[in-house]
Amino acid sequence: MTPAHSMAAKQGCIIERRHALTDYALIYEPNPTLRETSQIVTAFDADLQELVENMVRVMHQEKGVGLAAPQLGVLRRVIVVEVAQAIEREGESIGPLPLTVLINPEIAPLGHEKIEGWEGCLSIPGYRGYVERWQHITYTAQDINGHPLQGQATGFHARIIQHEVDHLNGILYTDRTEKIETFIRSPS
Ligand code: NI
Repeated sequence: MTPAHSMAAKQGCIIERRHALTDYALIYEPNPTLRETSQIVTAFDADLQELVENMVRVMHQEKGVGLAAPQLGVLRRVIVVEVAQAIEREGESIGPLPLTVLINPEIAPLGHEKIEGWEGCLSIPGYRGYVERWQHITYTAQDINGHPLQGQATGFHARIIQHEVDHLNGILYTDRTEKIETFIRSPS
């Protein structure tokens, strides 16, 4: 049982399946699908639920902290983010971020502060880059049932959301920085 299942169960939205779960797979740069603009989600149905379950599964398998639907080759405006446990990163204490599913997310900066930090991307394995992002953001979105939700994020949490929303617009973090380096194992 994945967190997506338990979240869906809490929201009373387990839908009977008429077909086997599709196994979506991660795609990698330079796959041109990563450069396309994703479409607004209008149907909050079993297909969407299946997509989200796949996204959560891949994020967990790859030990990522976020994933966007186009990374599975699906051009829909869906992101998932999760920091399973508190971590220390570049001197910043990052608290856990519960699994959050954002459909049709829109973000806006809160204040003018920007901050640089290291990012990686599951679609660009073996690299990381030093990227400037808004330090505080607000977001609006819909949940998996189509209900509106809103929130705020700061620091690394805000960074993850900005990175994933970029994917929905065909933008990769490598577009936002010249400071890219390779690594064998990601420092954690
Ligand atoms: Ni990414």
